[in-house]
Amino acid sequence: MSYRRDTIICEYMEWAKTRSHARFNLATSGLLHYPARDLGIRIEDVELSGPSSYGFEPLQVALAGKCAVPQDCVVAAIGTSMANHLAMAALLEPGDEVLVEHPAYEPLLSVARYLGADVRRFRRRFEAGFAIDPAEVERSVTLRTRLIVITNLHNPSSALTDDDTLKSLAEIARSVNARILVDEVYLEAVAVQSPQRSPRSAFHLGPEFIITASLTKAYGLSGLRCGWILAQPDLARRIWRLNDLFGVIPPHPAERLSVVALERLGPIADRARTVLETNRLLLYRFLDTRADLECMRPEFGTVVFPRCKNGRTEELCSLLRDQYETSVVPGRFFEMPDHFRLGIGCATATLEAGLDRLSSALDAMMS
Ligand SMILES: Cc1ncc(COP(=O)(O)O)c(C=O)c1O
Repeated sequence: MSYRRDTIICEYMEWAKTRSHARFNLATSGLLHYPARDLGIRIEDVELSGPSSYGFEPLQVALAGKCAVPQDCVVAAIGTSMANHLAMAALLEPGDEVLVEHPAYEPLLSVARYLGADVRRFRRRFEAGFAIDPAEVERSVTLRTRLIVITNLHNPSSALTDDDTLKSLAEIARSVNARILVDEVYLEAVAVQSPQRSPRSAFHLGPEFIITASLTKAYGLSGLRCGWILAQPDLARRIWRLNDLFGVIPPHPAERLSVVALERLGPIADRARTVLETNRLLLYRFLDTRADLECMRPEFGTVVFPRCKNGRTEELCSLLRDQYETSVVPGRFFEMPDHFRLGIGCATATLEAGLDRLSSALDAMMS
């Protein structure tokens, strides 16, 4: 199916920017903001302009070190959002077929359509804990498939895809000469929560993989927009050149601050871990009390994707907003209207109050 570019809008993003705000905001998928004062910077350190062309060398070194990859495989980008756009723009021609997971983070679909790709889907089933079933992917690819797109952790469910599954996907991709874009923005939450057990990026599993990620979600550093793409050097060069048509170079102060943040990532992650550990316990305690919700309980991540057994999820989301000053993301934005996405990266007091209100709203719907 082909789309006119001017008909493509990202409804979820518009909703997130204009309608998700609430006193008890459980709609965000990232961690509460890390305060600039804790970065220990002086304003004199934040030069306005600097030697940035195809990357700012200190940032390139820091990102390559963090991801344990050669520097020529790293393309810096403005958040995972721009990373996804650049990666797809470099890989896709109009009419190419792209296979995207379902449910999906909507901008991944919109970008592919904006680039003129023919978007097909494969299911990640609630009943299977939203795990990727390689057999389902194999059934869904065709000889025209150029790209398979997944998120790991999965947005909206936070399901973790293991290396064996990723390797099976690589085989499938190889068989039709396609590549796999893995958006790993939430994999950073695993690194935060479990530094010892943190899985390596899928980039290390084979040349089929192109990775996008950022510091935005798991560390509370959204405003820095420190994102990156990991790609084989020839593709990475192509992506840098393509960026000449978009942002050309990023704001230099953000590059400098990103280097500082990467140097301090240990303590920044410690703070995030404390928040997520406390909040996950609260969430699971809440879910234990709600027989009217079904929820896959992920070990890691900043979001969960419960289902209202009574199917009245839209009504619940409206009631929460209108009468309980609380927001969650309606599942319709993920093409599963019986569900809603609930974020646990906020301040603990906010989560506690928000969950109380969620309970009250669910009770009110029953009575
Ligand atoms: C799967 C996924 N990718 C990318 C993004 C955007 O990330 P960033 O803030 O780094 O641009 C989001 C934001 O919610 C997301 O859920």
